[in-house]
Amino acid sequence: MQPSDPFDERFELQRCPLHKARDRAMSQIWSEEDPTPAEGEHRKFDFLVIGSGLAGMHYALRVSEIGEVAIITKRQASDSATDWAQGGIAAALDPKDSFDAHGEDTLNAGAGLCHEETVRFVVEQGPDAIDALRKNGVDFDPARGTDRVEYDLTREGGHSQRRILHKADHTGREIERSLLARVRAHPRIHLFEDHCAIDLITSTRTGRTGANRSLGAYVLEASTGAVHAYTAPITLLATGGAGKVYLYTSNPDVASGDGMAMAYRAGATLANMEFMQFHPTCLYNPQAKSFLISEAVRGEGGILCRRDGEPFMQDYHAMRDLAPRDVVARAIDSELKRTGDDYVVLDITDKDPSFVRGRFPMIFERCLRYGIDITREPIPVVPAAHYCCGGVRTNLQGESNLPNLFAAGEVASTGLHGANRLASNSLLEALVYAEAAASESIERLTKIEPPGPVPAWRHGEATPIHEAVVITQNWDEIRRFMWNYVGIVRTDRRLSRAHHRIEMLREELNEYYWNYRVTPELLELRNLATVAELVIKSAAFRKESRGLHYNIDHPERNDAHFGRDTLIQRGDTPWISPR
Ligand code: SIN
Repeated sequence: MQPSDPFDERFELQRCPLHKARDRAMSQIWSEEDPTPAEGEHRKFDFLVIGSGLAGMHYALRVSEIGEVAIITKRQASDSATDWAQGGIAAALDPKDSFDAHGEDTLNAGAGLCHEETVRFVVEQGPDAIDALRKNGVDFDPARGTDRVEYDLTREGGHSQRRILHKADHTGREIERSLLARVRAHPRIHLFEDHCAIDLITSTRTGRTGANRSLGAYVLEASTGAVHAYTAPITLLATGGAGKVYLYTSNPDVASGDGMAMAYRAGATLANMEFMQFHPTCLYNPQAKSFLISEAVRGEGGILCRRDGEPFMQDYHAMRDLAPRDVVARAIDSELKRTGDDYVVLDITDKDPSFVRGRFPMIFERCLRYGIDITREPIPVVPAAHYCCGGVRTNLQGESNLPNLFAAGEVASTGLHGANRLASNSLLEALVYAEAAASESIERLTKIEPPGPVPAWRHGEATPIHEAVVITQNWDEIRRFMWNYVGIVRTDRRLSRAHHRIEMLREELNEYYWNYRVTPELLELRNLATVAELVIKSAAFRKESRGLHYNIDHPERNDAHFGRDTLIQRGDTPWISPR
């Protein structure tokens, strides 16, 4: 148990007596100078939302029609992957486009693992989803010509049509800004920033009999160290993805897989964790941390070239620079390995400079800051971890197999993305499933027994962590071996090395978790390690190559054995979904 954890016997590791003795000694040394954390409270709501991106905020705005909502977010509310989304949101709005064509492109990218029912459901909801955003004040760029629909539609990899609505190259910021203003102004939505969810509270964990169900979460208030119990009949996980599990990522720092790890620990089923999407084009610059060069740059004519200026995508796919992302990322990886270069370049200098500056103002400005004028010189780029196609498995209402625990956005695995996500389908999916989950939650709220009392969090004998270096060392180590061993190209041997490493690290981390007071950094590291382990186990299990999972030792796709989702649940080894 975490010494402060009320559910000790139900957790896998017991506190070791040796550590207990050592901690007691240490806490005697440190107790005078260390402030005691504030007392936690029991905070009761109708709906608990963990995460403040598009999915969490849309859901909160909808369910606040009938109840009191808490949104827990571990930093500032706008620190979300939504805020960083550049490309846009896909919807078949052009008269030349169709739901069938959007569905077909999604299925092609997904390499045989998309759920057709989900794909149909999501693409058909596209126009309503756009309307919902417009009603919440989101503004998209209008059409440039006269022959199209209302909006300027751009194109990205894997799409056979122009169908991406956008706001220049900062679509996500526009969405986050609009929804957050409404969330902050809403009298029934209570936003708790700098509050970090630790673990889900379930009926089994609190020792209740009957079917297990979600009751809420324990949440650390960073500024006081208090751990509060937030309870609600219904909880939505909207915590985003886990790109930080890799050394190089396009994701914000908050993407540490918290929701996936918490759901796993609470007994929910996760799917397809091996399918991590690597975005082909992140800016290569030692000073530029995590800056994406949107696929829309290629959609508007940008060409990938070797450093000597030779284009190469024609050697890899008929759709060239607009091939599906897995193909483009692997092509770049192969070019880098072959040439020994550190990066390839993306060249959009053929386009009119004023078009480039107007269409990509954020990319233009950011690159200029690093001395690159993208209207005159090619952009150095490398692939980086971008999007988890797997996550908490949910049904068409967005509910996990732990009753009353819903999940929407990148944390969820709905069946839309299969083995590889089609660009700009993720904001659409987040919105469609947040809406589906909200409708179901509104319908269900009055039929659920309230959570009732739950045990207060005890800090027990845990002492504060005095050596942050242990956290940073483990954090760096995980991210580095995940990049080297579980990256774009995998082998059985690399996966087995990664497995060995993560097992050792998890043991060390468990010791930390049990013995020291929880901090946001420790919680993130614990979640990151859990997610890394799930990715490694799922990748090692899938002995084939498909979509984003490429293993040199099993280079062919094997539909007979691996033609469906990989599932994983606490206490089990991965298995293939029966449907
Ligand atoms: C991009 O702008 O390239 C990202 C779009 C996406 O990942 O869907």
